[in-house]
Parts: sequence; C-alpha cells; structure tokens
Amino acid sequence: MLKKFIGGLGSSEKFEIPAHDSPLFQNIQWDRLPRHVAVIMDGNGRWATGKGLIRTAGHRAGVKTLKNILKTAIGLGLDALTVYAFSTENWKRPRPEVDFLMNLFSEYLIKELREMDEDNVRIHFIGRIEGLPPGLQKQMREAEELMKDNTGIHFNVAANYGGQDELVRAVQRLAAKAAAGEIQPEDIDEAAIDQELDTAGNPPVDLVIRTSGDERLSNFLLWQSAYAEFYFTDVNWPDFRPEDFVAAMEDFAGRSRRFGGLKNQ
Ligand code: IPE
Ligand code: IPE
Ligand code: MG
Repeated sequence: MLKKFIGGLGSSEKFEIPAHDSPLFQNIQWDRLPRHVAVIMDGNGRWATGKGLIRTAGHRAGVKTLKNILKTAIGLGLDALTVYAFSTENWKRPRPEVDFLMNLFSEYLIKELREMDEDNVRIHFIGRIEGLPPGLQKQMREAEELMKDNTGIHFNVAANYGGQDELVRAVQRLAAKAAAGEIQPEDIDEAAIDQELDTAGNPPVDLVIRTSGDERLSNFLLWQSAYAEFYFTDVNWPDFRPEDFVAAMEDFAGRSRRFGGLKNQ
C-alpha cells in the first residue's frame, strides 16, 4: 500500500505489476500461457543510431524495457523469464561498449535489487560468470543470495552466456564425475545433462521472443529451446512494451504444439 502511494507520488511513469483483471490482460488465455519465456533483447544499437544517438544510449533505454517486461511476466504468473543480456560472442564489440555494458549491469543491480526482492523475484545469473569483472561477480552472487528464499518468478539473466559454452561446461563436469567413478557413462541421459545446465530446476523453454527483426538464436539456450515456439518482432528492444509481450503470449496461445506426436492425441 505504502509502496503504491509512494509510486503514485514519485513518478507518473512508474509501471506496476499488472493485476489479473488489468485491461492489458483482457485477451489472455490463462490456461494457455507458456511457463518459461526466453527473450533475446536485440536492437538496442539500431534503436539508438536510428535516433542519431550513440549505441550505448540504446542499452540504457533497454534497461527500462526489461524492468517493465519483468513486471508483466510477474503479473502473468510465469514460472521463469530468461533474458539474454551479454553473449560469449559480445566480447568482440569495441572495448568502450563492453565496459559500458558491464557498468550498466552493476548499476542495474544497485538500483533494482530492492524492488525485485519486494516483488518476490528469484534472480539467477546464467553463463560463464567467472569471466566477468570480479566486482560484478560479487554483486551478482549477493543478489542471488538476497533473493534465494523468495517464491516468485525465476528471473534468469544470461551474462557471458553461450549455449555451446554452457553445454561444454556441463559435459566437463559430467566427465569429471565419470572419471572419478561417481557415475557410469550410461548414467548420462537427458535428465543428467539438464541438471548440469545453468538453468537446472527450470521448466523447458516454451517460447523464445527475439526483438528487432533478426530471426536466429545467436547461441541462446540451445538445449532448453529444443521444443520452444519462436516469436519474432521487428520492434527494437527499447520500444518493446508490455503490450508487445502480451501480444506474444496471445500468439503463443494459438499455437498447436505436438512434440512429435499428433494433434488431439
Ligand atoms: C542487444 O542490442 C544488446 C546486446 C547484445 C548487449 P544490440 O547491441 O545487439 O543492438 P543491435 O543489434 O546492434 O541493434
Ligand atoms: C544476441 O544479440 C545477444 C544478446 C541479445 C545479448 P547479438 O546482437 O549479439 O546477436 P547477433 O550478433 O546479431 O547474432
Ligand atoms: Mg544485436
């Protein structure tokens, strides 16, 4: 109550978690929602340069989008939202842009930590975290620790993440267990691999959303997306609104998922 009141006073722009009966959700089919949505937040650079701004202005604008989409996902009651923030390939970018992104993560964590915790979010960072700046790693671990007993949405932020790299790390751990005699090679099945992935414990990805027009996975959640539906939109990430996210949910509700079987089986 107090939070709402302060929010109302503070800024008219503040986006609250939409209620179940919010007009935003009027066409939602609640029994046909995905459990796990993955988002490739692409197009920050194009958004900025299209406006005559420097690319990093797009990354900053994209943070606000992320905040609103997380709140929308919470309102929808999704089990998990996994967002692609920095790939193992993104180190190829100019150093100032990489540095800017690392600082932006830190800033985001400092600014948003409390509110995410109040929203009952369980944050988790996926990817080769040990390859990130030490100060940022510490902040990430602290954020995870703070929210570990929450019971709400699993919010996975992929940073220094690559699907192939994740599989390599998982396979290395399994091989080490086999070499130590803890498991037999034939114990390595789908479930065993699933449990070694950074997303262990999350349901499989039902829906992958990619903004900004490109239609590829760019090394995101290769294993977890085995049977995902795909939703592509030309909207650049900083312009992607809760209404656009909801439109993806509505589209998903109309898909016929057969998982290799037959319809109406
Ligand atoms: C996505 O936006 C954010 C990151 C990859 C960090 P881009 O920076 O890739 O934006 P475009 O694709 O160049 O427009
Ligand atoms: C994918 O976007 C990675 C993130 C959104 C963090 P990219 O912009 O890096 O992907 P490509 O290079 O267009 O495939
Ligand atoms: Mg891009």
